[in-house]
Amino acid sequence: MSAKSGERIAVVGAGLMGHAIALDFARGGYQVTLNDRDDSLLRKAKANVQADFERLVKLRVTTSAKTKAAQARMAYDADLERAVGDADVVVEAIFEDLPVKQRMFERLDKACPKRAILASNTSSFMPSSLASHTNRPDKVLVAHYFNPAHLLPLVELVRSPKTSDATIATMRRLYTGMGKRPIVVQKEVIGFIVNRLQVALQREAFWLVENGVAKPEDVDTGLKSSAGRRWAVAGPFEVMDLAGLDTLVNASETMLPHISHSTEVSKLLREVVRKGRLGTKTGHGFHKWTPKTIEETKQRIAQALVEIERWSRVDKD
Ligand SMILES: NC(=O)c1ccc[n+]([C@@H]2O[C@H](COP(=O)([O-])OP(=O)(O)OC[C@H]3O[C@@H](n4cnc5c(N)ncnc54)[C@H](O)[C@@H]3O)[C@@H](O)[C@H]2O)c1
Repeated sequence: MSAKSGERIAVVGAGLMGHAIALDFARGGYQVTLNDRDDSLLRKAKANVQADFERLVKLRVTTSAKTKAAQARMAYDADLERAVGDADVVVEAIFEDLPVKQRMFERLDKACPKRAILASNTSSFMPSSLASHTNRPDKVLVAHYFNPAHLLPLVELVRSPKTSDATIATMRRLYTGMGKRPIVVQKEVIGFIVNRLQVALQREAFWLVENGVAKPEDVDTGLKSSAGRRWAVAGPFEVMDLAGLDTLVNASETMLPHISHSTEVSKLLREVVRKGRLGTKTGHGFHKWTPKTIEETKQRIAQALVEIERWSRVDKD
């Protein structure tokens, strides 16, 4: 099958994010080549892609036949220059290390066709710090996904002062056409949009636990059963409009002076990390975990994300 709109995609870095980004493009109808440093890493990525496709079939998001067609649109190539040599769009998802990414953008700039757009999935670096290592700053941007990239529709398109309107328009069309929800971050700022919101919420969650107001499990239940559930279908500005903005002024006047405005990493967080409690990867974080409960939780999240997506699509149709 030929690629959708003729666009050929290359994804560089086939780890947690890269393999899911690549399978998502393939599901969206595009020809994708996935690159990593060697063949054994690519074999691992292929097995992860296969496992994700199987889960999608199990969740009834897609069928085996569609999965086979998507897999046929995927190629794996450890030779970077060959993998990106004919690409229209490259998404880079290698290690979060600035000099390593900058060297990669220099290589991509040399190896890719002049027309190619170069996007980075970086969580923390500014697009201008990568664009400055190319001769095409107008075609460089950040395309920031959320894990799991094939189940969460958001992609933050972060522009540098030099990213062109045409580049943003192409990326928007590309993602919208495959059912993702791109949003544009007009000005490069640390944390982009969603991670800034998440960090603000985490800071307050730590404050509540550190000050003995609540236990972590009650903070989790509290958010899951109220605002979090609502945020999946209505954003903060929609929620504020529904609540009444005059009420918000009064509530803000009372509450804002008491909300955490700490600029330090939480003491509680430092303490649990010092004890080796790193979360699911050590079996203990704020909750205790076993391989079974980890798998069950991931499955529960995936299932709910699929349901929410079905729901919000019905909304749009
Ligand atoms: N993990 C997340 O939740 C998340 C979310 C959004 C964005 N990101 C960003 O995505 C990027 C990748 O993160 P990840 O979690 O997938 O990491 P990861 O360690 O799972 O994967 C990185 C992959 O890049 C490969 N790689 C490194 N150097 C390379 C090179 N020179 N050429 C080709 N491949 C190379 C590695 O072999 C590895 O397979 C980072 O920039 C990260 O900040 C991560």
